[in-house]
Amino acid sequence: MKLLVTGGCGFIGTNFIRLMLASHPDWSILNLDKLTYAGNRLNLLDLEENEPRYEFVRGDICNRELVMDLLGGKRIDAVVNFAAESHVDRSINDPSPFVATNVAGAQNLMECARQCGTGRFVHVSTDEVYGTLGPSGKFTETTPLAPNSPYSASKAGADLMARAYFETYRFPVLITRCSNNYGPYQFPEKLIPLMYLNAKADKGLPVYGDGLNVRDWIYVDDHCRGVELTLTKGREGQAYNFGGNAEETNISVVRTLLSIVGKPESLITHVTDRPGHDKRYAMDFSLAAEELGFAPTLPFDQGLAQTIAWYEANTTWLEQVQSGEYRTFMDSWYGERA
Ligand code: NAD
Ligand code: DAU
Repeated sequence: MKLLVTGGCGFIGTNFIRLMLASHPDWSILNLDKLTYAGNRLNLLDLEENEPRYEFVRGDICNRELVMDLLGGKRIDAVVNFAAESHVDRSINDPSPFVATNVAGAQNLMECARQCGTGRFVHVSTDEVYGTLGPSGKFTETTPLAPNSPYSASKAGADLMARAYFETYRFPVLITRCSNNYGPYQFPEKLIPLMYLNAKADKGLPVYGDGLNVRDWIYVDDHCRGVELTLTKGREGQAYNFGGNAEETNISVVRTLLSIVGKPESLITHVTDRPGHDKRYAMDFSLAAEELGFAPTLPFDQGLAQTIAWYEANTTWLEQVQSGEYRTFMDSWYGERA
C-alpha cells in the first residue's frame, strides 16, 4: 500500500511514519508537510537518506494543484491526515491559521482525494471536539460536538465536513478522535515537554489556574496503532474514540514529572487560567475496542518515565527545534511548493 501522510514531520506524524514503515514491509509513505514551526524534517532524515519506501515533499495541504499532482501522479492508495495547527493557546491568540489549515486544508485534501478516486481517507481529529465534561461520565462517539476553543472548533469543522463528504458522496472517510498524546518528538509548547524544559532550567512551571483540569493521557504509539487499525479495519463513515485510560490532573502530571527529574515542587507557579479552559476529558473507546481490537498498552507512569528518558537523551533535538537558526536553515534547505 502507498500512503499519503500529511503533517508527518510533526509529533504524532513522525511516530506514525516510523511505526508503520517498521511494521509493514509492503507499505511505502509519501509525507507532505509544510514545515511550520512545529514540523521538523530532521525527525525523519535517517529515513530520507536510507529508506527507499519513504519520500518527503514540502508543501501545504491547502494547495490544490500540488495535492492533485501528488494524488494523481504518485499512485496513492490511502491518505492519513495529521496536518494541523495543533496548539490551543496559539489558537486563542490567532484563530486564522487554524481555520485555513484545519478546516479549508482538510476539505481541500478530501476534495482532491474524491476527484482522484483515492481509497480510504483517515482524518485525525481530537477528543476536544466534544467540549468539556463534569466530574463524571465519558465522551462517546455520539456525544454532541461542542468545541470551546478556536482550535477545537476548527477540528470540529473538519469532522463535520468529513461527515458531509461521506453522506453526500459516499467518500470513504473515517475519523479518529483521541485524547492527549505524549512521547518522543513532542514540540516543547505542550504541557509535558514544556514543563520538562523549565524544570531542567530551574525555571517556574506555569500551571494554569488551580491545576485541577483533567486530561486522559495516551502514549503516542498507542494512538498510532489506533489510527492504523482505523485505516485497515474501520467502517467507512464512522468516527472512533481513542484514549489511554489514564485520567490525571495537570498538577499531578507536573508533580510526577518533577519527581522523575529530581527537582523541587517549589518550582510550580500557578498562573492565569487559559480562557475557555476545558475542565475534564475522558474517553469511552469501547467501540474501537470491539470493532478494531484496540487497547492502550502503556501505563502512564511508565510512559512518562520513558518519555522523559527520551528527552534526556535528545537534548540537541530540543535545542534545535527552539532555535531561530534552525528555522532559517529549514526555510533555506528546501523550497516550498506552496
Ligand atoms: P504538531 O503540531 O506536532 O504537527 C503538525 C504538523 O502538521 C507539523 O509537522 C506541521 O508542519 C504540519 N502542518 C501544519 N499545517 C500544515 C499545512 N497547511 N500543510 C501541511 N502540513 C502542515 O501536531 P501533533 O500533535 O502531531 O498532532 C497531529 C494531529 O493529531 C493534529 O491533527 C491534531 O489535531 C491531532 N491530535 C493531536 C493530539 C495531541 O495530543 N497532540 C491528540 C489528538 C489529536
Ligand atoms: O486532547 C487532545 C488535545 O491535546 C489535542 O487535540 C491538541 O492538539 C493538544 O495540543 C492537546 O491539547 P491540550 O490543550 O489539552 O494540551 P496542552 O499540552 O496545551 O495542555 C494540557 C493541559 O495542561 C491543559 O489543561 C492546559 C494545561 N497547561 C498547558 C500548558 C502548555 C498548563 O497548565 N500550563 C501550560 O504551560
